[in-house]
Amino acid sequence: MNMLAEELNEVLRETVAGRLLSGLGQRLYFPKGIIAQSAEARKNAHFANATIGMAYQNGRPIIMSAVADEIPSLTPEEIVVYAPTAGVERTRLIWKDILAQKNPSIDPQGISLPVVVPGITAGISYIADLFIDEATPVLSSRPCWDNYELIFGERRGAPVTEIPFFGSGPGLDLDGIRQNFRSEARSGQVRAILNFPNNPSGYSPTHAEADTLIEIVEEIAESGADVLVICDDAYFGLFYDADFIQESLFGRLSTIHERVLAVKIDGPTKEDYAWGFRMGFVTFGSKNLQSVHYDALVKKLMGAIRSSVSCANTPAQTLMLKTMDDPRTPAEKERYYNLLKSRYHAVKHFIESRPPLDCLQALPFNSGYFMTFRCVDIDAEKLRLELLHKHGIGVVAFGTEFLRIAFSSIDESQIESVYRIVYDTARSMGNS
Ligand SMILES: Cc1ncc(COP(=O)(O)O)c(C=O)c1O
Repeated sequence: MNMLAEELNEVLRETVAGRLLSGLGQRLYFPKGIIAQSAEARKNAHFANATIGMAYQNGRPIIMSAVADEIPSLTPEEIVVYAPTAGVERTRLIWKDILAQKNPSIDPQGISLPVVVPGITAGISYIADLFIDEATPVLSSRPCWDNYELIFGERRGAPVTEIPFFGSGPGLDLDGIRQNFRSEARSGQVRAILNFPNNPSGYSPTHAEADTLIEIVEEIAESGADVLVICDDAYFGLFYDADFIQESLFGRLSTIHERVLAVKIDGPTKEDYAWGFRMGFVTFGSKNLQSVHYDALVKKLMGAIRSSVSCANTPAQTLMLKTMDDPRTPAEKERYYNLLKSRYHAVKHFIESRPPLDCLQALPFNSGYFMTFRCVDIDAEKLRLELLHKHGIGVVAFGTEFLRIAFSSIDESQIESVYRIVYDTARSMGNS
C-alpha cells in the first residue's frame, strides 16, 4: 500500500471512519504530485509559476471569446437541464466530424460516436472500469502523467508498468518498447496507454517512429494477443514541428487488426483552453467492429457514467457547441497555438544555444504544453524546492529523476530568465 495511504489510514485507525473504509477507501490517498506541487507553487512562485498544465497569458488564463461572451446569455435549457447520459447528440456528432477532419487516418464509418464524459480523467477511469481488472498490468511510458498510478494502480489495483520511452538517443527507445510489448503479449492480452503529445516530456513520435509503434501493436496482435490501446490525446493538435506526427495514432490503430481495440480519449480541456469545463470524449475503434458492437460498448460506458456522475455537465456542452459554431474560433485557436509554439521555440533556442549540462538533460520535445529535464546525479525534488524557495519559480518534480517545466503557463518574455535560473541552480547542485 502507498505510504501516503498508510499515513491517512493511521490517522483514521481508531475512528469509526477508519473501521468502515472499503479496500479502495484504504488504498486512496492524495499524491504529492502535480496538483500538490502546484498548490505549493501558487503560494511561493512569485517570479514564475510553470507548474500547471494550463495556458496563461499576462498572468491570466487564456479563454475562447465564444465562451467568455456567451456565458451571460445562456438560456435555462442550455444551463440547468440534465444532459443525456452519453452527452448532447449534436456535440457528439460535431466532435466526430472534427476528429475525422483533423485525423485523415480515421474512417468515420469504422468508429463509434464519441461519448461525452466529465473530463479526460473520467474517461480514462471509465475505460479502466470496463477493461482493467485487479493485477492486470497497464503498459505506459516512463515518464508519464502521475494520475495513471492513482487511476489504474490504486483504483483498479492494476500495476502500471512504466516502459522507459527515452534512451540515450534523440527519440523513442523502440527496441525497449517492442520488448516490453512482446513480453506482456505472452500472457495473451496487452493493455497500454499511449499519450502523445506526452505529459510530461512534450514528445510526439516522428512519422517513422509512429509507423514502428503501429507495427509493434500489429505484430503482437498477429501473434495472437488481444490488445487494448488507450490513446490519451489530451494535448492533441499542439504539434509544433512537421517532422513529427500531426495526428492521433487512434486512426491507424482502429483499422490495423481485429485483435486490437483502440480507445481515443480527448476533449476541449487543453485543445480548446477549457480546463474547468470537465468535459471530454471517449471514442471506440476496431477493425471488424460493427455499429451493433459500438452501440453495446457505448451502453457499457453509459453504465459507468450513470453509476458515477450520472451525466456530464450541460453548460460545458452548450458552450462547446457555441465555440464550435462561432466564426471567430478558427482564427483564435490559431493565435493561441502560435503563442504556445513561439514559447516552444524560445525554450528550444535557449537549450540549443547553451553548452549542455551533464546534470540536466532535456528529454526530446516537440509538442504540447511541457518539456522535461532528466536530472543526473542531482535530485529533481531538491532542485524543485530550491527553485521555489530561493527563486520563486514553480516547476514540477516527477520523483527524483525528472523535472517538468510547463512553458504553456509562463510568458515568452520570462522564458530566458526562468531557464537561466534553472540552469544556474542545477549547475550549483551538480558537477557541471
Ligand atoms: C496526459 C493527461 N491526460 C489527461 C489529463 C486530464 O484531462 P482532464 O482535465 O480533461 O481530466 C491531463 C491533465 O493534466 C493530462 O496531462
